[in-house]
Amino acid sequence: MIVEPSPTETHRLVRAARCAGKSVGCVPTMGALHAGHVSLIERARKECDFVVGTIFVNPTQFGPNEDFSKYPRTLESDLEMCREAGADLVFTPQTSSMYAPLAQTIVRVDRLASVLEGAHRPGHFDGVSTVVTKLFNITEPDRAYFGQKDFQQQLIIRQMVEDLNHPVEIITCPIIRESDGLAMSSRNRYLSPDERQRAGRLSQALRKAKQLAQETSLAPAEISAAMIDMLRSVEGIDLQYAVITNGRTLELLTEPTEPAVALIAAKVGTTRLIDNEILHFSLRQ
Ligand code: PAJ
Repeated sequence: MIVEPSPTETHRLVRAARCAGKSVGCVPTMGALHAGHVSLIERARKECDFVVGTIFVNPTQFGPNEDFSKYPRTLESDLEMCREAGADLVFTPQTSSMYAPLAQTIVRVDRLASVLEGAHRPGHFDGVSTVVTKLFNITEPDRAYFGQKDFQQQLIIRQMVEDLNHPVEIITCPIIRESDGLAMSSRNRYLSPDERQRAGRLSQALRKAKQLAQETSLAPAEISAAMIDMLRSVEGIDLQYAVITNGRTLELLTEPTEPAVALIAAKVGTTRLIDNEILHFSLRQ
């Protein structure tokens, strides 16, 4: 496995693989890797001849009061996990080689990026869509792998790729969870033992929503009210949203139609967590 910090050299290495007839898979990450990230690399390994992981804590997607400076940086163990998962190349740029001081270009997705996470984290998705565009330009992948964990992010990337004619196929992979259901996240390591226990309630609320959608004829608004009830009652959880939306447009659902997704964001202590579940309204179909 090659570890390469230079964008130019990374581009050259990927080009060489492409010229040798290999298909290229890219897995963008911010490091602090866990089994969720590993599942993306393993999927890329199965489907592509040349697998590129990227590790870059992208400053432009963090707000001024967010956790950029304390975001976990664990490069040595990250590289070991990439190696074990079968990556061929890991791109590990410095901030200075990704952002020139005089850079002026931002890639902005409009409506999809303005709601939910976009509303709570102004500018966040501009940072994400801009850096992912740069990573796609550097690694020229045939396929790129994203987690359903960041549901809104993968929708935005899909929209961007379509709007800008990026020749890349976006693959969305399932959420990998801890044994109590908590979605794996690099930020889970911020949680105290007490908070860690409470954090399990988020996925419980989502499972409840999934079950209510499947087994009752409750309306989406009633199901989201049930999630909110479950989470409001837990001390130490500061719920930011718990909604049921259309799984393509992210508009609030008024009727039990598919695609549907239940999305939650909450602060547990000072740590902000997000999670989601796809819903099926079996009784209505
Ligand atoms: P990061 O949070 O490191 O996540 C990298 C990828 O791993 C994302 O596609 C994310 O959805 C996926 N992922 C995270 N937790 C997961 C889990 N429990 N199960 C499955 N997949 C999971 O998302 C980012 O980085 C950045 O915004 C990035 C796209 C790299 C741009 O900077």
